[in-house]
Amino acid sequence: MKYGYFDDKNREYVIERPRSLTLTGYAEFTNHSNYEQDQVNLQYSLFIGRTLFAGNRVVQQVHGNLDALPPEEQVDGKIVTERFFGLSGAPVAAYCGDKASFLGGYRSYGNPIGVERGMENELSYNENACGALSCVLTLEPGESRTVAFLLGEKYAEEAEALLSQYENSAETVAQELSALKEDWEGRLSALQVQTPDPAFNSMLNTWNAYNCYMTFIWSRAASFIYCGLRNGYGYRDTVQDIQGVIHLVPEMAAEKLRFMLTAQVDNGGGLPLVKFTHNPGHEDTPDDASYVQETGHPAYRADDALWLFPTVYKYLTETGNTAFLDEVLPFANHGEASVYEHLKRAIQFSLDHLGPHGLPAGLYADWNDCLRLGVQGESSFVAMQFYYALVIQKRLADWKGDADYSAALSAQTETYSRRIQQLCWDGDRFIRGFTEKGERIGAAADPEANLWLNPQSWSVISTLADHAQAERSMEQVHARLNTPYGAELMDPPYHAHAFDGALAVIYNPGVKENAGIFSQSQGWLILAEALLGHGERAFEYFLENAPAAQNDRAEVRVLEPYCYGQFTEGRNSPHFGRSHVHWLTGTASTVMVGCVEGILGLRPDLGGLRLEPAVPGSWKEFTMDKCFRGKKLHIRVENPEGRQSGFHGLWLNGEALSAPYLPSELLKEENEVLLRM
Ligand code: GLC
Repeated sequence: MKYGYFDDKNREYVIERPRSLTLTGYAEFTNHSNYEQDQVNLQYSLFIGRTLFAGNRVVQQVHGNLDALPPEEQVDGKIVTERFFGLSGAPVAAYCGDKASFLGGYRSYGNPIGVERGMENELSYNENACGALSCVLTLEPGESRTVAFLLGEKYAEEAEALLSQYENSAETVAQELSALKEDWEGRLSALQVQTPDPAFNSMLNTWNAYNCYMTFIWSRAASFIYCGLRNGYGYRDTVQDIQGVIHLVPEMAAEKLRFMLTAQVDNGGGLPLVKFTHNPGHEDTPDDASYVQETGHPAYRADDALWLFPTVYKYLTETGNTAFLDEVLPFANHGEASVYEHLKRAIQFSLDHLGPHGLPAGLYADWNDCLRLGVQGESSFVAMQFYYALVIQKRLADWKGDADYSAALSAQTETYSRRIQQLCWDGDRFIRGFTEKGERIGAAADPEANLWLNPQSWSVISTLADHAQAERSMEQVHARLNTPYGAELMDPPYHAHAFDGALAVIYNPGVKENAGIFSQSQGWLILAEALLGHGERAFEYFLENAPAAQNDRAEVRVLEPYCYGQFTEGRNSPHFGRSHVHWLTGTASTVMVGCVEGILGLRPDLGGLRLEPAVPGSWKEFTMDKCFRGKKLHIRVENPEGRQSGFHGLWLNGEALSAPYLPSELLKEENEVLLRM
């Protein structure tokens, strides 16, 4: 019999005979749905589990022995749970429900005996379970077949029904995949850009947006590496994460924002941890021993509620829904007030917690979990956030015609601007604050940690820094903190000169808060440079830590090529450039804001949309399709002179406008916008 022929063109022997292939699918089940029980109570989680074979699937039963009870009847709060791993589109040839039997002694995922030798239909009973199924496919030359492996948590009837839907696997899988793609494309369609940079397009249009969605929806529970099973939402990260999706799904964002506002205590502070069982109006607070005991969070953080300002402002301006300010929402503990009043209280919280110099106290932490400045120490970062809060609140007060309050806010802005300037400017940088003993942190003369990133970028974002200060301190950042993988949080790392409260010293140098490169801070850096009109710098900072731009260094970065991590190891680590802690709250959203408001310059305000891109000079042209307040904008940016920023002309539906600003009342359903830089 002739099995093949020699293909002259490709110079290879093409074998043409039927082939019999064994295809094996494998998935692991947790023993118990409670990950903590699984980790710390292995004896228990093993002895409630077993697997069965049911023709086209391996079924794992948790508490299977309760199957004699009527459905839903519980013993000690427990019922039978069933997970399955099934095969559709071909008959099962062999199966295995026991992890150790599938892998084989002294073997690993690289050479499981269940694949090498084949499976012998073992099941598990008090062991770690798995689902493994194989089928044998005989293929004629050129033939292809599709089968589907399905994993789920369903009882028999539903599992059967699901598996039967995939009998015609190729077609069903293709349909499901295209429905999934369509769903995601729909979610991401509110902003799509085409710039000359493929990494930027891929991050902004798809992967950073996806990352933002995931952390927004799952919060920290989605992070395998960071408190996978947490008892609630962290205040600051969750409020920051809302900013990452406001331009995509404003109403979904608003729901979470309302929720977080109800987690603000009536003294204006945020609950450091908002329980998953959060019951607005009835919660205890860090002032109650019960809260501390239950959450493990002993005190307020200085920054939590201040994150509400940029987030609420972004929601109001993106949607134009200023009525949101008048919505009445409960406080976490008791009482209720309008959103506007919630914001007032957040300001009051800072005013009620000032340190000896009259700057906001650092309390249990500010943004930096490793700075414990207490009630006597003070944080310049929080001072700048506070200053920015006053600026935003004044815009809102003016919008509402709240003249007395607006005047009071103006006076406060003056006072704090002067105070922060006097106390925190150190010639060429802003310091990081004061220790409980009143010593300056981050002054030029300090032997360690004498230059900090966040006070420099936030001096720009908050509008506190004057032009000369901004240029000077941001230049310092570039010269001293920047690296090919992003800018370090501070330099040099703490080792022998950490003050009490500089907890970063517990980490290896170059790691985490001890001079690691934080994605969050990188986002603020991108934004700050863009606000200064420095398109090249902003983009340089974007590229340094954009996952999509590091595929030629994947073995250095290690983390998935589409996800931001909490931090990248800095120059002081032997693994400089390696990134960690993916899918973490508060990591993807600040970069998104840096790109959207910063580089793309899409900056809504209460009356409309400001368009002030800050891009590399090489971007001669790019387009942005954006939904804004229910209207469609097709924006084309032309940059024939290769500028980094600046305004030359703006045309809305053919009409010239005098500033880089689209007043919302001029917008039609569909709009053609041309911006010339
Ligand atoms: C982590 C935390 C975040 C904190 C940051 C800096 O990313 O999730 O809340 O602000 O570390 O300490």
